[in-house]
Amino acid sequence: MDIRTRAVHVVDETPPPAGRPLSVPLVQSSAFAFDSADGLAEAMAGPDGPYVYSRRGNPTVRALEKTLAGLEGGASALAFASGMGAISGVLLALLRPGDRVVAQRCLYGGTYAVLSDLSERYGIQVVYVSGDDPAEFEMAAGRSARTRLLVLETIANPTGQVPDLPGLLGAARRLGVTSVVDNSLASPVLCRPLELGADIVVHSTTKYLAGHSDVLGGAAVFADDGLRQAVWPRTVELGACADPFAAWLTLRGIATLPLRMREHCAGAAVLAERLAARPDVTAVHYPWLAGHPSYPLARKVLSGGGGLLSFELAGGREAGRAFIERVRVAKLALSLGGVETLVTHPASTSHRELGADALAAAGIAAGLVRMSVGIEAVDDLWSDIEQALDRAA
Ligand SMILES: Cc1ncc(COP(=O)(O)O)c(C=O)c1O
Repeated sequence: MDIRTRAVHVVDETPPPAGRPLSVPLVQSSAFAFDSADGLAEAMAGPDGPYVYSRRGNPTVRALEKTLAGLEGGASALAFASGMGAISGVLLALLRPGDRVVAQRCLYGGTYAVLSDLSERYGIQVVYVSGDDPAEFEMAAGRSARTRLLVLETIANPTGQVPDLPGLLGAARRLGVTSVVDNSLASPVLCRPLELGADIVVHSTTKYLAGHSDVLGGAAVFADDGLRQAVWPRTVELGACADPFAAWLTLRGIATLPLRMREHCAGAAVLAERLAARPDVTAVHYPWLAGHPSYPLARKVLSGGGGLLSFELAGGREAGRAFIERVRVAKLALSLGGVETLVTHPASTSHRELGADALAAAGIAAGLVRMSVGIEAVDDLWSDIEQALDRAA
């Protein structure tokens, strides 16, 4: 054949059953070839047929989905292009105009923004509750027969609030309300909300699961596969599917997740205690710190405090902003959950969608500094924090 034909139709080297690769093969293909027209047509029927087109399913992405379902103790999972892809996909798939959502007041800003948008543009009622009181949730949910979803975060970003998961998830089950828990900050190493009664767990896999600040991704894990079957067609329409290479990188990160989580938790716990002992630090928010309002619950539902902490400085907003510009080992950057320590100012970044009142209601002070503790040596991080605090005062 002509070189132009030979260049396009490269040799197909499918791995043999013996001598196969140890790592999951990266199937970087948008479409899949068939021998029969009927075979291709039949494969379009649902999410589990042969692979047809990577927006509908891909072997590398499916490997990630099965791994995540296994880690969270779910029946099945769907991977997305980002955490927001997963959250928007689940909300858009399950809600109809006139439905009600009950959500925890302190939520990631992006989730809060989608809920506000759904409420304004599609007539979905959103009612916020503290997350600490099942009776308050039952009141908010029970007032409408159209209450469809309960939305929570295992560890709220950035206040470290741990909602009463057993109480709230139990109440949602009793009322027939589907519960969605964002488990990005805890990861399945520290908490598995499906085991506590949640119906759907969502993740920004960008964070701890992938863990190296080099890839965006999201996922939804379902307690019951019927929910995946309901969500899948909408996500195919939305097109926020995971790219195979992103899924491959995420799988590589997951291999070290338990080891990294141990280091994140150990470092954050030490820094939270040292920060709390400084006179120029007026508050430290870390759920594993005795005195944090969620401490008793955190000890019950988590197996570690996680890697995210936040704190307030006596000098308020100005001191907080000065601090994040003065750190040297830690970097001033958005995101969290990577191997490197990052600092941000939530009120002007991740939670900018919340107005002043919503910020206050969510417990986010104007000068709050958020720190995602990486896996560096904790004493190097502490020296860095001390010099930045001394210069920010
Ligand atoms: C708790 C939480 N959920 C969801 C997201 C959104 O994830 P992504 O940035 O991957 O879309 C974030 C991002 O910061 C987050 O912190």
